[in-house]
Amino acid sequence: MDIKISPSILASDYANLQAELEKCEKGGADLIHLDVMDGHFVPNISIGAPVITAMKKVCSVEFDVHLMISDPYFYIDDFIHAGADIITFHTECDSDIQKTIDKIIAGGCKAGLAVKPDTPVEEVFPYLDKLSMVLVMTVEPGFGGQSFLESTLPKIKKLREKCPLIDIQVDGGINTKTVSLAGSAGANVFVAGSAVFKSDNPAEAIQTLRNNARV
Ligand code: DX5
Ligand code: ZN
Repeated sequence: MDIKISPSILASDYANLQAELEKCEKGGADLIHLDVMDGHFVPNISIGAPVITAMKKVCSVEFDVHLMISDPYFYIDDFIHAGADIITFHTECDSDIQKTIDKIIAGGCKAGLAVKPDTPVEEVFPYLDKLSMVLVMTVEPGFGGQSFLESTLPKIKKLREKCPLIDIQVDGGINTKTVSLAGSAGANVFVAGSAVFKSDNPAEAIQTLRNNARV
């Protein structure tokens, strides 16, 4: 499987988004991870579609949009028009999962489905044929800078055994050590916020994550 590194903008300097995006692009990021939080599905509010629209104009890396919102179905068109390439939403949301996946794909985007740490990974199984990616959250969604939960590793293994070819993304607490744990379990797409943006050298951080992810 291709290793992909997806820096999470949540940990970046929001006053200098264009410069932060350039660091990722020059540093060889495969994707840009955009965390959308509504203050309802998670107890935090981040950015929405207008900010993503603006960012898309100054960045040519694929946009990996992670919706931590209660009703993703209602907002899918906004994120498609904003320039999302992959839209991932949660099994724990209030929308109809199949209809939401179908709407994402009909709009020309790739669809991803996410599970929180305590949600069994089997919840995504009925939808696998339409999904490009499954996101196994390795922290409780809502905030950057949390510690990686090793209890999520068996879910990654189980999913990789069932789906040898699907992109398995991990998000939360990914650093130079935990990236190897998740990679050995079968993940191949790694979101990293603090590990990239709190580093003095984001390009080097991306490269180290990529090297350490290889199993
Ligand atoms: C958490 C977000 C993550 C977050 C990761 O709810 O989904 O994408 O930005 O941040 P780090 O890498 O700092 O744990
Ligand atoms: Zn995320």
